[in-house]
Amino acid sequence: MSSLTGKRVLLIIAGGIAAYKALDLIRRLRERGASVHVVMTESAEQFVTPLSVASLSGEKVHTALFSLTVEPEMGHIELSRDADLIVIAPATANILSKMANGIADDLASTLLLATDKKVLAAPAMNLRMWLHPATQRNLAWLRANNVAFCGPDDGEMACGEFGPGRMSEPLAIVAAVEAVLAIGSTTIPLPAGVGIRPEKPPGLLAGRRVIVTSGPTHEPIDPVRYLANRSSGKQGKAIAEAAARAGAEVIVISGPVAISDAAGASTIHVETAREMLEAVSRTLPADIFISAAAVADWRAEAPAGDKMKKSGNGPPSLSLVENPDILATISQHATLRPRLVIGFAAETTNLVEHARQKLARKKCDLIVANDVGTGTGVMGGDQNTVHIVQADTVDSWPKLDKDEVAARLVDLCVTKLEEKTR
Ligand code: C5P
Repeated sequence: MSSLTGKRVLLIIAGGIAAYKALDLIRRLRERGASVHVVMTESAEQFVTPLSVASLSGEKVHTALFSLTVEPEMGHIELSRDADLIVIAPATANILSKMANGIADDLASTLLLATDKKVLAAPAMNLRMWLHPATQRNLAWLRANNVAFCGPDDGEMACGEFGPGRMSEPLAIVAAVEAVLAIGSTTIPLPAGVGIRPEKPPGLLAGRRVIVTSGPTHEPIDPVRYLANRSSGKQGKAIAEAAARAGAEVIVISGPVAISDAAGASTIHVETAREMLEAVSRTLPADIFISAAAVADWRAEAPAGDKMKKSGNGPPSLSLVENPDILATISQHATLRPRLVIGFAAETTNLVEHARQKLARKKCDLIVANDVGTGTGVMGGDQNTVHIVQADTVDSWPKLDKDEVAARLVDLCVTKLEEKTR
């Protein structure tokens, strides 16, 4: 097996008379098992045709920065990311100068500026160009910045002069390729903290579907009046966002709120408790149901079709009927009960006791109990003090931001789901 088996060389052919030798270089590299992708500068096309390069490399040749087929896929970045080594042969005074000065005005120079890969250049130019102080200054800078060189050789030039400037023979360049790759890492290290973003690890709720109800419900009395409560929807939104961050597919069924929809989740907007139940039922199945909404317990039995008027005989009587209990309904769903069902208990008295009763009555797995009494600032505020009530435990969390309550609750969901699948 050759030392180049499986190696990926990105060859840049710049515009010089020695470009014809690049064809032989492609052949030699491929003979040794390397794959060769080629980028040609515009002037290189004056010396060899992309067609002959393509037939020798067996790959599509990249010729322009704004090639329609390349750029949509971030071509110049992808091209060098896939390579083990970039070889420039022939490397003209022009491309070396662009490299040394950070110029990126075509595909070749752009990828050279963007790459993190080792670059090996095989210069080829007229000897006066080679000896020119500008070229020598560029070479010194490139050498000091990790660019490897092969050649140029002394010899007779196409222009009739004799001296340094001939491109090295293909086999000598192949030997240099082998030597550079043998040294080890072809990647130029970047400063800490920058580079290709690591793949995000899959979240702890990846592949799970979570339904969250949130906000209040509005129960109409007549076309302009309704029964409601002070729920802001902030806690439900925070839970939905935390579950989405953990990788879950999250659907929020939200009553009327003044805040924006949860990021990373889809939101269905509803008005009444009955609409909310209908939306939740339609959205099942789910792995987790979190009933954070402050659903109105009652609604007007017969909302007036027109705005109710003062009659002079005192206020009208308002007859109320009970709304469906969404949490209890979903907890006791005959076929589609989510594996984990979590309710909230907003109370002003006997918090934990009431939460325990609710847990038993509604048959959910866990109740998040919070004191919403006057002065707590929970309804509409950004903080919450909650107690996690389960069948035989109560865990009281300190006063926390609603986002932190949400994050902890999502962690708890992960643990509970694991327990249930064991
Ligand atoms: O009975 P109570 O309203 O205090 O129960 C609170 C819990 O039950 C919350 O999780 C709330 O979202 C849910 N609930 C419900 N449907 C109702 C009333 C409350 O889902 N009609």
